[in-house]
Amino acid sequence: MDFSIKAFNTKNAIAQHKSSCIAVGVYEGGKLSPAAKALDQKGMLSAALKSGDITGKPGTTLLIHHSSGPAKRILLVGLGTQDSVSDRSFISAVQAVARVFTTLGASDGMLALPLDCVKDRDAHWALRAAVIALRESVFRADGLKSKKDDTATGVRKVTLAVDVADAATKRTLAQSVALANGMDLSKTLGNLPPNICTPTYLADTAKKIAREFGQGVEVLDRKQLEALKMGSFLSVTNGSQQPPKFIVLKHMGGKAKEAPVVLVGKGITFDTGGISLKPGSGMDEMKYDMCGAASVLGTMRAIGEMALPLNVIGVIPTCENMPSGSATRPGDIVTSMSGQTIEILNTDAEGRLILCDALTYVERFKPACVIDIATLTGACVTALGHHNTGLFTRHDDAHDELANALIAAGKYANDTAWRMPIEDAYQEQLKSNFADMANIGGPPGGSITAACFLERFTKKYTWAHMDIAGTAWKSGGAKGATGRPVPLLTTFLLERLNH
Ligand code: BES
Ligand code: MN
Ligand code: ZN
Repeated sequence: MDFSIKAFNTKNAIAQHKSSCIAVGVYEGGKLSPAAKALDQKGMLSAALKSGDITGKPGTTLLIHHSSGPAKRILLVGLGTQDSVSDRSFISAVQAVARVFTTLGASDGMLALPLDCVKDRDAHWALRAAVIALRESVFRADGLKSKKDDTATGVRKVTLAVDVADAATKRTLAQSVALANGMDLSKTLGNLPPNICTPTYLADTAKKIAREFGQGVEVLDRKQLEALKMGSFLSVTNGSQQPPKFIVLKHMGGKAKEAPVVLVGKGITFDTGGISLKPGSGMDEMKYDMCGAASVLGTMRAIGEMALPLNVIGVIPTCENMPSGSATRPGDIVTSMSGQTIEILNTDAEGRLILCDALTYVERFKPACVIDIATLTGACVTALGHHNTGLFTRHDDAHDELANALIAAGKYANDTAWRMPIEDAYQEQLKSNFADMANIGGPPGGSITAACFLERFTKKYTWAHMDIAGTAWKSGGAKGATGRPVPLLTTFLLERLNH
């Protein structure tokens, strides 16, 4: 889908604009938005409103054919009550437009919703939300189907009506498209089957991103990981035929001496549970256990395309968790890169085992902060459902600041996170009789004890952990990766430029 912006004013009236379809807003209570008013020369739109065919409720639509006008069709879209249009109402209005656009017998359309109508948001926010929602509607996961889903029809070229097409607006459009491209990559990687999306495939993807956007890339193999003494990470790969990879992708857009933000993504390309085998039903969904890695790659792609003047390093430990005669056993004790020993009481708690060595490795970058992203625990899904990502940090001023910045970025990006506690009381659940710690803390507070485990490897820098087990993909009929939390992470990084 191609996007362009066009400014309308008194000299350049929207009523004269030629288009196959112009989408305009109406408010609940029967009020036309400014663009709708401008198109209502013969009273056709007010008549439609009066008829009761459209109420203005968010997400409702009415398509009117108007073959004699410069716009062949006018699509009325409900926005809700004028003085309280919420983020959700605006997004659902754009989604409704997208649904009509994808089935239209025309290839071009204009979105002329009032971009300044959303409560507490500006036109930049609305422009981005519109681009993301429209791109979401044309995303397809049919790359491996012999007969492709219906994509040939509908609007491919969208013009976004704005008040002024200044440099800032153009930049917002370019950044929105870059973000959508990052989300697309993240979703596509997540949806790929585990026999294709292997650790090697993720490494090749990172190399491609590096080449396209001038980033640095390094991929460490088993020998190098052994030399680094990553005994915890390597223990997870024991049962697998696929070689493990450790990916380091560097976007050095900032000043040479500026401390980088480090993003660490869990890249388990398939999680069987290992010897602590998972039940069979729904196990296919464990192909999504690399969505942390996919979100790091998606974010690196987005900021690469934006040429963001910031130093950001993406780090991805990636392997499979398989059972076999050579797999790690429950009861095995391994030594992590940090020197701390771990009694593996459950081989299905493998995410923390690969992340802890990555978290030690990144100390060398002297980071401004480290954020790890992982489909880490089913317990997080129980706690927060599918709406919020679980956010964990220590509780001091520096960490409160980081947590608040991430929460604010999530709200802006419609990709929210909810903060959870890390406290010493939970740490006690990780006690082992035979090693420095166990890799599980029992059923109570399972997402918290997982975070507490990681916390032990992050003492040297400011750190946040995001558990995306509930938010990275959807199950059921609409099964598929969501691209979250690429919007949150990208927004967080964009915001750092302003501080
Ligand atoms: N990848 C899973 C977490 C997961 C489970 C995400 C279900 C989404 C849906 C992780 O590796 C795992 O298996 N965690 C265990 C931890 C337990 C053994 C302490 C879990 O959540 O059951
Ligand atoms: Mn597991
Ligand atoms: Zn896992």
